[in-house]
Amino acid sequence: MIKAPEHVLKVKAYVPGKPIEELERELGIKDPVKLASNENPLGPSPLAMEAVLAEAKKCVLNRYPDGSGFYLKKKLANILGTTPESLILGNGSNELIDMAARTFLTPGDEAVMAEPSFVVYSMAATLQGAAAVQVPLDESFRHDLPAMACAVTPKTRMLFIANPNNPTGTINYAREYDRLFSVLPEDVLVVIDEAYVEYVTSSEYPDSMKYLFEGKNVLLLRTFSKMYGLAGLRIGYGISRPEILAQMERVRAPFNANSIAQAAALHALDDKDHVRRSREVNGQGKEFLYKELSSLGYKYTPTEANFIYMHVKDPLCLFDAMLREGVIIRPAGRDAIRVTIGLPEENKRFVAALKNCGRKE
Ligand SMILES: Cc1ncc(COP(=O)(O)O)c(C=O)c1O
Repeated sequence: MIKAPEHVLKVKAYVPGKPIEELERELGIKDPVKLASNENPLGPSPLAMEAVLAEAKKCVLNRYPDGSGFYLKKKLANILGTTPESLILGNGSNELIDMAARTFLTPGDEAVMAEPSFVVYSMAATLQGAAAVQVPLDESFRHDLPAMACAVTPKTRMLFIANPNNPTGTINYAREYDRLFSVLPEDVLVVIDEAYVEYVTSSEYPDSMKYLFEGKNVLLLRTFSKMYGLAGLRIGYGISRPEILAQMERVRAPFNANSIAQAAALHALDDKDHVRRSREVNGQGKEFLYKELSSLGYKYTPTEANFIYMHVKDPLCLFDAMLREGVIIRPAGRDAIRVTIGLPEENKRFVAALKNCGRKE
């Protein structure tokens, strides 16, 4: 019998949000609504779509992509006020989490992270034979950064912060980062995952680039999967000090960012109108859902992202019942679900289904 090492067998395979096609196939449900993976319901930017088609038409898909991501890194560097050497591209930001863990963790090391937070952090650490040290969120479902700092030991090599956090949509503030960095040892890499940064409206949200410019050991992660609507193409990027990224480059798979994704991302960055509309639709959907959830008596956590964390008695039972109504949501632990903010008609479908299913809980 071929058997993977113990630390691999410890990891449960990632369970993605249920795909629409599966629901159509398995339950015969026509026209289901997927509010399970925090995707942009408006789709990709039209400029990105034009770039996808143009790239495909060039008939160069027999060639490997630009492995250095020259143009995309150049453009991002201009926008961010940094250099291309401070950037790394990933096949989604997911790959960058994995790459960072493979670069900096070995068996016996520790990585500190919040719980609940994005599950891939603990998977990536465990797969390196490192310990995933999970620190509960505070009473307002935010990262408890003082408690996370206390969880750091001489074995700690990485500390993950999702800001906004998935699944709770909560943020941490600059003053909290300042306190964390003032006590953190020099040999701990702080990974700040900003997958939902473009949705944040709070004026207290930290400018994480500042910590990078100050020379702190940070790796910032961003993605084109959320606001830019390119989840299917798999493209994200990391921003860090060149010395840190040069080490990650050693574990990066050749040609990890494909050519169509690079072209789409490059043009998506130009589409300010798409970003504006996406924010607007999200903001309006958020207000609608807050109002409806309150009137139905559900407790929810105010969000800075494109999803809402809400408390329910039996998440799995509600998930199943909602599936039968053609609405895919995501159970999030023992007493909550996470629902992506969709288009107005999708949000209405969700509320109508919730009204039907709430009784079955
Ligand atoms: C907090 C967070 N980080 C990273 C990711 C991964 O995004 P991607 O690999 O699509 O860039 C997600 C996806 O849901 C996320 O919620």
